[in-house]
Amino acid sequence: MSQITVEGGKPLVGRVDLKGAKNLVTKAMVAALLGETPSILRDVPKISDVEVVQRLLELHGVTIDFDDAGVMKLDPSKVKSARMVDIDAHAGSSRIPILFCGPLLHQLGEAFIPDLGGCHIGDRPVDYHLEVLRNFGAVIEKLPNGTRMTAPNGLHGAKISLPYPSVGATEQVLLTATKAQGLTELSGAAVEPEIMDLIAILQKMGAIISVDTDRVIRIEGVETLNGYSHRALFDRNEAASWAAAALATGGEIMVGGARQQEMTTFLNVFRKIGGAFEIEDDGIRFKHPGGALQPVVIETDVHPGFMTDWQQPLVVALTQATGLSIVHETVYENRFGFTEALVKMGAQIQIYRECLGGNPCRFGQRNFYHSAVISGPTQLVGADITVPDLRGGFSHMVAALAAQGTSNVSNVQLISRGYEHFLEKLEALGASFSFTE
Ligand code: EPU
Repeated sequence: MSQITVEGGKPLVGRVDLKGAKNLVTKAMVAALLGETPSILRDVPKISDVEVVQRLLELHGVTIDFDDAGVMKLDPSKVKSARMVDIDAHAGSSRIPILFCGPLLHQLGEAFIPDLGGCHIGDRPVDYHLEVLRNFGAVIEKLPNGTRMTAPNGLHGAKISLPYPSVGATEQVLLTATKAQGLTELSGAAVEPEIMDLIAILQKMGAIISVDTDRVIRIEGVETLNGYSHRALFDRNEAASWAAAALATGGEIMVGGARQQEMTTFLNVFRKIGGAFEIEDDGIRFKHPGGALQPVVIETDVHPGFMTDWQQPLVVALTQATGLSIVHETVYENRFGFTEALVKMGAQIQIYRECLGGNPCRFGQRNFYHSAVISGPTQLVGADITVPDLRGGFSHMVAALAAQGTSNVSNVQLISRGYEHFLEKLEALGASFSFTE
């Protein structure tokens, strides 16, 4: 299924149902390592990022049972060390192995991580993670293909301040501090809804964590944690992706499981562009109400700002708005590579090094093309395109579905890293496509 041929120009209409958020579920699975007893996670999507974490946990001795209803049982009672070469072979492009460090240091006294991949959206270093772990007392040794960590004197609570509210580094602190000796105070924390859900899980396990309104999180270490039983927070990134798809194709999509509260920032922007939505008890209905779409100025940011993962699908819809839209990407330095394919399909998009349309960010004056100006409306036309990364890939598919004519889209399997049953959902929405070898 690596290449498909798409016949575009048809509105997507129908219903999709969400499962748990990729960016919570994978961390919740790692949290199970900290428990003395088994954990149960519900609404787990069948996506390849989950498969990767499942394999990594199994390598570390966790027994996992994952059924078709999306219920995952994780038993960590036989946790053991894994060899770096095996971890490397299974990790693929996932960045999750870095989050195994705290739990493994607690449970086994050592951890190995291979050098990490991820989507091609910037350098994505792990320096904050390593600094956090050092703060807790980990000793870090760089090996030729990865890193070995030990905790000869155990892990101790610490006062930590992040230079940027990194989601992953905040999770690193949470997963390590809950069982570290004494108090941890984290300032400059990320407070994404997925992080709040991880905190809820850790609290169910026995952790003591408080969150202040000023990005300060305090954790009182406890000696033991138990397993949890939890239904994962819905995937708001997937919800926003389908919303953008409805707008770009002139369609209407009911996104079952989406909730207003975690999406208010997105919904405001969606409305300003001219999209319509109805909040229903079991989800949110997104539609193109007809008429012209309006251009907008967007700056991506950490929560409660406009999520970086929302911008790529929405840029496709902005090619259909009348006038100039500006998107300033302030989370990743290199997240506009996907626009090249859109330009090939007829979109008018220019990318700039300058911080356009808002406040200067940490990428200004550093030669990163991190602002985009989109001029519309333009008729997109089918083209041969290759999926570059997860969200960029979703955007390419939406562009192909909105375009007049035929597109050949290769590397489509990358989208299944984060979108469960992606092609089945497209089919249910009336998309026309076929598989090519
Ligand atoms: N950063 C560093 N050093 C670090 C860690 C991060 O410089 O040690 C920088 C990154 O390079 C980036 C910024 O800090 O410029 C923010 O990165 P963050 O750590 O917040 O991102 P992440 O934890 O690696 C998660 C999601 C991303 C999502 C971001 C931002 C997962 C598995 N990934 O990444 O999701 O974009 O938070 O919300 O949770 C996606 O779903 O497509 C995706 C990329």
